[in-house]
Amino acid sequence: MPTSTSIHPVLDQAPTTESFRKATLRGLRKNQKRVPSKFLYDERGSKLFDAICELDEYYPTRTEIGIMRENVSAMAEAIGPAARLVEYGSGSSLKTRILLERMGEDLATYVPVDISKRHLLESAEALAEDHPAVPIQPVCADYTASFELPESPRPARRTVGYYPGSTIGNFPRAQARAFLSQIADTTGPDGGLLIGVDLKKDVDVMTTAYDDAEGVTAAFSKNLLRRMNQELNATFDLDAFEHQVRWNEARGCVESHLRSTIAQSVTVAGESFAFEEGETIHTEDSHKYTLEGFASLAAETGFEVESVWTDDRSYFSVQYCTTSPDSA
Ligand code: AVI
Repeated sequence: MPTSTSIHPVLDQAPTTESFRKATLRGLRKNQKRVPSKFLYDERGSKLFDAICELDEYYPTRTEIGIMRENVSAMAEAIGPAARLVEYGSGSSLKTRILLERMGEDLATYVPVDISKRHLLESAEALAEDHPAVPIQPVCADYTASFELPESPRPARRTVGYYPGSTIGNFPRAQARAFLSQIADTTGPDGGLLIGVDLKKDVDVMTTAYDDAEGVTAAFSKNLLRRMNQELNATFDLDAFEHQVRWNEARGCVESHLRSTIAQSVTVAGESFAFEEGETIHTEDSHKYTLEGFASLAAETGFEVESVWTDDRSYFSVQYCTTSPDSA
């Protein structure tokens, strides 16, 4: 039950099982089998991802939170008063709390967008309890596809995207460019984007973050197989696959794969797929950027990087980008 009247009804544009089926079959028919990483986030996957964020090995979350805490006043100033804040892939909205604590009533509205409806609602309710004065307008959607934004209940001076967690790193460069352009279209002229971007560093530090000792990340990856079993009538034996992580220097990303430990055949939605021993399903890329590399990507999309905040080790960055006040 909502505990506050500040939550508006969820605008439900969630992807269907049919889109999961189509994308999965298309991906498994490829030479290098793959499934888009957005399907990692069903309810269980979202919870496992929250557990990943607590792991010692997974430095991005706590580093980003530290940067947010230390620089939130400057961030709030950059965003300015009466903004409509749209968070892409809000999950448990942990980092948003830091912004809301500082900006609170200064915001016209907060629009969390997430693919997992229950997760979206639970966090919206928890946020509303702590910030009853901020209108919250949850949207359940695959934010990588086009989706509709609800009308702001209060006049907004500008629209600012919030995309923390270095989730931009999960897109290949061309898609990252397309997605940032889509955000720039949504914000329009004089818009903003506050974005978390993980930076290139020692390869061991980057790969260990995706291969923790407790096996939480392995469970997160394998949840994709479980999900296929449940939703697509697939026959994956979860014990016959293992989580594997590789740094790809040419593409500048950590790749996550599920490796078949034996030769086997698996049925998915009525179609049979053969796996050789050692063959993998590529489940995720996590691209890492240099500051220059991200600035040039942003510049290709109508955004200009205005401010960059980092930690002492330069592991991670939070960046504020703007669209020009008179861009079309
Ligand atoms: C959401 N995203 C930025 C995470 C990452 O670091 O690529 C997803 C993740 N996958 C495994 N661990 C974390």
